[in-house]
Amino acid sequence: MPFDRSLRIAPSILAADFADFGAECRAVEAAGADWVHIDVMDGHFVPNITFGPAMVKALRKHVKTVMDVHLMIAPVDPFVAAFAEAGADIITAHIEAGPHIHRTLQAIRGAGCKAGLALNPGTGLDGVEGLLDLVDLVCVMTVNPGFGGQQFIDMTGKIRRLRQLVGDRPVHIEIDGGVDATTAPLVAAAGADVLVAGSAVFRGGSAAEPAAYARNIAAIRAAAEQARRAA
Ligand code: DX5
Ligand code: ZN
Repeated sequence: MPFDRSLRIAPSILAADFADFGAECRAVEAAGADWVHIDVMDGHFVPNITFGPAMVKALRKHVKTVMDVHLMIAPVDPFVAAFAEAGADIITAHIEAGPHIHRTLQAIRGAGCKAGLALNPGTGLDGVEGLLDLVDLVCVMTVNPGFGGQQFIDMTGKIRRLRQLVGDRPVHIEIDGGVDATTAPLVAAAGADVLVAGSAVFRGGSAAEPAAYARNIAAIRAAAEQARRAA
């Protein structure tokens, strides 16, 4: 995974058909997805449950791009090896998930994966600068994690400050929650380069009828690219 700051769209399969994840992953990649975002929830760190490492492992053969695994679980450390062995390219852990995020990020890289650090909307950037050399991605949540389809929370000030902190380090700035063709320009102009989108990608289509996926991805991409050029 060579680093560059070109715009990437990462559909979240949280909004896909849970009975057909393999076909859904193949369909969004064919529709132009750059990465596939996989939301793991434990019913403890967040008030919802999705799936675990066995699902990620089963999806590996259906994802040709990048498996971007977002862990909304606590604790994280006991599961890092299992998600790495399942084939995750990126494992993102929340700064709020435990007292030893530095150890968690070391463990993720130690397991051979790219490491991501996620921040809830209520979490500031204090403490993030000291972790930037340990991470490949910072995920700024623009909803409180747990569910798809929630309303976007404006975090553009935080994204701008984070973009300055990151400087020329090879660290992606990912935005997750409520991203669509209307909100994507705000975050792209503020410095984001990876846009996660669930409902805004999967609405109106299916793995059998994926034309809407391509239209939805193209609309988000075009809106974000235009805002980047204007910024
Ligand atoms: C929220 C998840 C997101 C979510 C995004 O807890 O981490 O990835 O699926 O879904 P939308 O784009 O519908 O807000
Ligand atoms: Zn996510």
